[in-house]
Amino acid sequence: MLQGHNYERLLKISKRINWRVDDIIGPDKPMDFSRPFLPESFARTAELPFLSLDERLKLNQIRGFGYLAMFELVERTILPVIEGHTASGPGQDPHRTSALNNFAIEEAKHIELFFRFRQAFDEGFPVRCGFIGPAEDIGAAVRSHGELGLALFILAIEWATQQHWLESVQEEESLDPQFKSLLRHHWMEESQHAKLDAMVFYELAATAGPDEVLRAVEEFLEIGAFIDSGLAQQAQLDLASLEAAIGRTLPGAEREQFLARQHQAQRWTFLGSALRNQGFLNALGDVSASGRARIEEVSPAFC
Ligand SMILES: [Fe+2]
Ligand SMILES: [Fe+2]
Repeated sequence: MLQGHNYERLLKISKRINWRVDDIIGPDKPMDFSRPFLPESFARTAELPFLSLDERLKLNQIRGFGYLAMFELVERTILPVIEGHTASGPGQDPHRTSALNNFAIEEAKHIELFFRFRQAFDEGFPVRCGFIGPAEDIGAAVRSHGELGLALFILAIEWATQQHWLESVQEEESLDPQFKSLLRHHWMEESQHAKLDAMVFYELAATAGPDEVLRAVEEFLEIGAFIDSGLAQQAQLDLASLEAAIGRTLPGAEREQFLARQHQAQRWTFLGSALRNQGFLNALGDVSASGRARIEEVSPAFC
């Protein structure tokens, strides 16, 4: 399990990386609206041949906006959960609280990062795009689940950001450099979070029985299903944003195709990219082979 990783070492790596939001987004680093923001593997605009190339670019950027808003929402949702784990008992690693506090501070910084990008998007895009909400209600509904299921959810989100960065690297030439920088810098810090959260997950799992771990996997899947229903709504909002941005309404059959394909594209972006990630599966598999098998059984639906 996570050989070579411990709280002291992860804290040291984090302190060394520690970038500032102003280094990544600001007036001297504008977003380039002539380029796509998200890798095509997530945006999947080529699956909608009835859209012109310019319309596909607009849709890609709308999906980029949704990515920023979704991560801001998720970071706001998980921050209180991470803060709830920072207190350490007398027998625990002396570096644990500092490392987890630093983890929480970085997530608070990421909320600011996604907010700042969202502001830059609003300034440069021709229409205002919708996003699901209210964020407080979505966050409260997610946090109503047990702490082991929530730890698994956070772990999944951390590992998903690795996939987002990896796929942006594959489209090195075409993507907006600012958005690519966002994905890279986010993963640079999430890489430590994934290990820290796995350590918290192992601590919690050590005091739980195998049945409790399997129940946590089911709770995690409930959170995923809840988010998935939000993604279906988001596809509707994206369609409205696209129609406003391109100044035309899609005919009925095209709308249906749009909603089905874009819902699935969002599933892969936010859920499948986590469920299929080897780092996530290995961390869960270390604790529960049956839990891992359960995830592998459902993950094809999210690809
Ligand atoms: Fe983050
Ligand atoms: Fe994180």
